[in-house]
Amino acid sequence: MKRQTTTILLLLLSGTLALAAASHSHWERVPARDHARANPFAGNPAAAVAGERVYNDHCAQCHKAGARGDGGKHPSLRSEQLRAVTDGDLEWFLRQGDLAHGMPSWSSLPQAQRWQLVTYLRSIQ
Ligand code: HEC
Repeated sequence: MKRQTTTILLLLLSGTLALAAASHSHWERVPARDHARANPFAGNPAAAVAGERVYNDHCAQCHKAGARGDGGKHPSLRSEQLRAVTDGDLEWFLRQGDLAHGMPSWSSLPQAQRWQLVTYLRSIQ
């Protein structure tokens, strides 16, 4: 019984580590140019309001109201990890998406709307 418990704990631990590694991986793939790109609307309150509208139209269905996530497959967008990446990283990820993991690409939105989304997320993080 004791050995079973240990095995289960080890399996849970390795699963958690694998998930952590997976969620880090897209930030390591951001090209240097995109990583360094500045948000033209950084700190602009009107852009944050516009971004919230775009968020409610396109993102809230998965990431939920206020970008708090659903506690499962759809992550909160207020996490430490997202606070740590650059605005350029976020805009790049929105363009790419990660379809294999259920995140669509938003490359069809106008570029300005992706920056507005980033501005909105920054305003609530
Ligand atoms: C159909 C559901 C769905 C929609 C709609 C959606 N997402 Fe996602 N999103 C996901 C999933 C699932 C992930 C996790 C993917 C992964 O692990 O790579 C994710 C991941 C992310 C991440 C990375 C989170 C992290 O911690 O690495 C960001 C940022 C993000 N989404 C922003 C958005 C924004 C902004 C929108 C609206 C334009 C949006 N998403 C719309 C499903 C969705």
